[in-house]
Amino acid sequence: MILVTGGAGFIGSNFVLQWCANSVEPVLNLDALTYAGNLTNLQSISDYQGHQFVHGDIRDNTLLQKLFADNRPRAVIHFAAESHVDRSITGPQAFIDTNVMGTFRLLEAARKFWNDLEGPEKESFRFLHVSTDEVYGTLGQNEPAFTETTPYAPNSPYSASKAASDHLVRSYFHTYGMPVLTTNCSNNYGPFHFPEKLIPLVIVNALAGKPLPIYGDGQQVRDWLYVEDHCSGIRRVLDAGSLGETYNIGGWNEKANIDIVRIVCGLLDELAPPGSRRVINQKTGKVVEAYSELITYVTDRPGHDRRYAIDARKIERELGWKPAETFDSGIRKTVAWYLANQDWVKNVIDGSYREWIDSQYKVDQQ
Ligand code: NAD
Ligand code: TYD
Repeated sequence: MILVTGGAGFIGSNFVLQWCANSVEPVLNLDALTYAGNLTNLQSISDYQGHQFVHGDIRDNTLLQKLFADNRPRAVIHFAAESHVDRSITGPQAFIDTNVMGTFRLLEAARKFWNDLEGPEKESFRFLHVSTDEVYGTLGQNEPAFTETTPYAPNSPYSASKAASDHLVRSYFHTYGMPVLTTNCSNNYGPFHFPEKLIPLVIVNALAGKPLPIYGDGQQVRDWLYVEDHCSGIRRVLDAGSLGETYNIGGWNEKANIDIVRIVCGLLDELAPPGSRRVINQKTGKVVEAYSELITYVTDRPGHDRRYAIDARKIERELGWKPAETFDSGIRKTVAWYLANQDWVKNVIDGSYREWIDSQYKVDQQ
């Protein structure tokens, strides 16, 4: 079996769903269910025996040791993290706790377990660390995209904490020979994306007639990848990646924030016309004619990185991985998913997904 951490979050839950659809190998899913963890993401596999959920923290040594000993996973896929840059600016402590200390504890538990393995079990063990392109810092307009050898230059507490975790993972390969792999991926989008991040926030706010906040001049560039492509890239690295190596995963899809927001507004105009839904502009009280009229420029994020771009040639060349979606197909699917899953959105917005978690896990806390 494989041990997935953070499998109730945005990317982790997409990964678990994709894994269960493509493999009979069981998944043990360890997640602390912070505000970002949502078990309803995994509702479609709630009766599937091959998926086992454990409510717990990656910083809990005792729990980790027990999970390794009882389940003997052949691989760890480590997603669990605090992931929102804006939250890292207002409250960096949780990022150090989970992203740095949590990764350290997980590495230690994995190392103890791996040390005692023998033969083929030891040979085939893998620790795959899921990281971000944000560790490389920011790019000028004409600079080449990040490669795996771009020096680290993180600019936010989030990216600094992820950089620290990447360094720890690297050191466990060089110092202990642990069979680690690291992936650094660009901005993801797709189903189950928590609506504090740009794309889902825009969809949710637009449908509610609320302002679509654009930080600064909106010309910051991100390199967007459909989440299922990220998950397939991780699976490919797990299967065939060279030990100790890092792989950038990206979709060759650079876009300025304002362009992203305009594209999403255009799709919403087509798929959920504001006039026929009588969406009311919360500021003016009038019926919205086109969602783009809700675009509102707001104060910029402190230390806002100007541009990210991923050079994904290494994973393409060495592992034969390529994304399946174009941005056009992926963003259309994403907008359609949010429109078809308004209950999911409502549960997240009104917090009822948390009430359910609280009632479900009061007695089950590990
Ligand atoms: P997310 O915030 O949606 O989910 C994180 C999950 O981790 C949640 O389910 C949360 O409950 C869990 N978690 C948090 N702290 C924990 C702890 N101490 N113990 C156990 N579980 C804990 O994040 P995401 O967007 O799905 O990102 C997943 C991983 O991918 C992160 O490591 C992130 O750095 C990386 N990444 C994200 C993106 C992106 O665009 N979202 C891009 C590249 C890399
Ligand atoms: P985000 O989704 O938070 O991802 P990240 O900061 O990890 O790239 O933001 C994507 C981009 O959109 C980033 O440049 C910040 C910007 N942004 C806004 O302009 N307005 C918003 O309300 C949010 C959440 C983000």
